[in-house]
Amino acid sequence: MQYFEIVGGTRLKGTVEISGAKNAALPIMAASILCEGETVLRGVPDLADVRQMVLLLNKLGVRTERDADGTLRLRVEDEMNAHAEYELVSKMRASVCVMGPLLAKRRRAQVAMPGGCAIGDRPIDLHILGLQTLGADSDLVNGDVLLKAKKLKGAEIFLGGPFGSSVTATANVMMAACLAEGRTVIAAAACEPEVVDLADFLNACGARITGQGTPEILIDGVAGLHGAEHRVIPDRIEAGTFMIAAAITNGDLELHNARMDHMRAVVDRLRRVGLIVERGEKGIVVSSSRRLEPVVITTQPYPGFPTDLQAQAMALLCLADGNSVITEKIYPDRFLHVGELNRMGAHLRKEGPTVIIEGAKRLIGAPVMASDLRASAGLILAGLIAKGTTRVHRAYHIDRGYERIEEKLGKLGANIRRLNEA
Ligand code: EPU
Repeated sequence: MQYFEIVGGTRLKGTVEISGAKNAALPIMAASILCEGETVLRGVPDLADVRQMVLLLNKLGVRTERDADGTLRLRVEDEMNAHAEYELVSKMRASVCVMGPLLAKRRRAQVAMPGGCAIGDRPIDLHILGLQTLGADSDLVNGDVLLKAKKLKGAEIFLGGPFGSSVTATANVMMAACLAEGRTVIAAAACEPEVVDLADFLNACGARITGQGTPEILIDGVAGLHGAEHRVIPDRIEAGTFMIAAAITNGDLELHNARMDHMRAVVDRLRRVGLIVERGEKGIVVSSSRRLEPVVITTQPYPGFPTDLQAQAMALLCLADGNSVITEKIYPDRFLHVGELNRMGAHLRKEGPTVIIEGAKRLIGAPVMASDLRASAGLILAGLIAKGTTRVHRAYHIDRGYERIEEKLGKLGANIRRLNEA
């Protein structure tokens, strides 16, 4: 196993290229199951989760080829297998995105239930409900969901859940509805830019989707989809992580390929903290104003503040000049980083889905344990400013969603190394 060793205290300066979005790339890759002919995806990040999706798609009869420039080519060669097994699904929950495409194209989808997760309960009831409403029969076999349908029929489907809409349930239902007979209306659809990117890709393949980016998506079924070329949108969570890196280290960064229009809530909160955020010629430019004001942050579905930046924002607010409050409205248990940040000298108190952050004068390096992808990012950010050396163990979490993070941070002046555990 590997870990990151960070010696804190350097200001980050320079330009960083933001990669394609993991959470856009994964469902779009799964959508290739629906297509006849070759799909060409540009800007697919080289991440553990992407490699995991490639493995799963290979097992499902999709041939994949990656060019040196990051272009990923996918083509269905064999439609016999429709089983996403537990061994693969348990390593990556986004595997569930093959459910809709398998059902629509192969009339059958057997997908292992993903089970528990470090960020809390992550049920898939909305995915199943949506696909049942399109006409699928469902059963539970050995911990797998088994869905079958001779044909799918367009329907009205409400995808709101106790914590808002579901991003990947919207993706699954939208993908399946592309090949259903007639019109499907998804109400309370997720509005995330990654859902819009998927819809844009599907439309390029011949689908008829409108309303993406709003809570009501309309899908008029078509007889078949062809492959298409598509460039994946930039990763707003990676961009937000680098913005916070600038804020926490008093740095100045240019984020090439970052999109301000996907990050309004993040920009709003970071400006209130004191970060200067401007549109640049090639993306976003951020510079520190040398102050960190406390703020209140509530995570919400898009366009609200993303849960995937909650841990990173918490690391930043540990050093604000006063008390901040973060409330988690998507995953009320996504707080394993709280105890680790306290090990570094933060003053955090968790009360239910809320954490009260009393600003500290400084953080102190310590060995800490990453629990999930975004928590690891928060701990690395804390390490960048902590006095002394921080070791973030279980580097594999970060490799799931950040492309070459130590290389990118290192180029900006951070003192960070990847090392092997003894
Ligand atoms: N939910 C249900 N029932 C369902 C599905 C979800 O109650 O059938 C609940 C969840 O428990 C949660 C809320 O609805 O409270 C929203 O979950 P959602 O389904 O939107 O999450 P997801 O689609 O499984 C995606 C991202 C996550 C990100 C969330 C929220 C992908 C591959 N994953 O997950 O990304 O946190 O949306 O924005 O797109 C990450 O990248 O680190 C990550 C965890």
